[in-house]
Amino acid sequence: VNTEPGEVTVTNGTQQALDLVARVLLAPGDRVAVEDPGYVPPRLLFQSLGLQVTGVPVDGEGLIVDAIPRNTKLVYVTPSHQYPLGMAMSLPRRIALLAWADRQNAAIIEDDYDSEFRFGGRPIEPLQTLDTTGRVIYVGSFSKTMLPTLRLGFLVTPASICDAVHAAKYVTDWHTPLPTQNALAAFIDQGWLARHTRKMRTVYQERHEKILDFVDAHFAAHLSLVPSAAGLHISALAKTMSSTEIEEWVQRAAADGVAVQALSMFRVADRAMAGLVLGYGAIPVSRIDAGLRILRHARTTGATRSR
Ligand SMILES: Cc1ncc(COP(=O)(O)O)c(C=O)c1O
Repeated sequence: VNTEPGEVTVTNGTQQALDLVARVLLAPGDRVAVEDPGYVPPRLLFQSLGLQVTGVPVDGEGLIVDAIPRNTKLVYVTPSHQYPLGMAMSLPRRIALLAWADRQNAAIIEDDYDSEFRFGGRPIEPLQTLDTTGRVIYVGSFSKTMLPTLRLGFLVTPASICDAVHAAKYVTDWHTPLPTQNALAAFIDQGWLARHTRKMRTVYQERHEKILDFVDAHFAAHLSLVPSAAGLHISALAKTMSSTEIEEWVQRAAADGVAVQALSMFRVADRAMAGLVLGYGAIPVSRIDAGLRILRHARTTGATRSR
């Protein structure tokens, strides 16, 4: 990412970064577009600020730029690893989104969450790097590389809004706690973050592959994996089950002690996709097969239990 020191603002995670940007750029009643399905907390935040939030559908290349409503002032996207489906936004789609923002005099928030854990393939240039007209606000977080309870993230803003973002941060909470920032800065300077990320990439890749193998071997008739080579979760679309059937399956699995999510939880409009989100950020590889066997059992026991 291209940066000058004054363009970086340290925040209490992605969520505060989005709050600052929305308060600087938008007024109540303005329209914001988010991905559908998409990450839920930003949508709730934008709604709480009195903004009109529209869900824009995604396809295999990411957000469908032609479906963004005309009077939209800000678009929030996850191009490296669409949340929750997991594909990367294609280069042509990135270029189309930048051209759209330029034409509409709109801004784009690029949430680059998950880009650190890539298991193959070459990353596509971030929107922020491709941007030549200062429309992209880049947001990063240490919630996955380190831990979500740290509440550390950052914004890289175009020069035109740096002062306003700094002022918004100052009136919100002065600054993110300095002792935590100093500890993380030392961790980064001494090369520990890079080491930790390298080590965890191998760990997560092993979990990722184990889940892929199991789904291919045991769920092929029911689920189709969304191709993804990064991050801490995998999504799979249902081949025949409805979103209600998937939700019931998820509930039965939870009762048996296995937590997976229904894709329908991430819908914005009434376009519920039927599928599962399988997270592996917190499960050791040695427990994955047993968990997936419970999940498999919970699918077939559904009919019997609901009677
Ligand atoms: C798409 C996306 N962005 C960002 C985050 C992290 O947010 P924060 O930095 O506020 O913890 C998450 C966490 O689950 C996420 O799924």
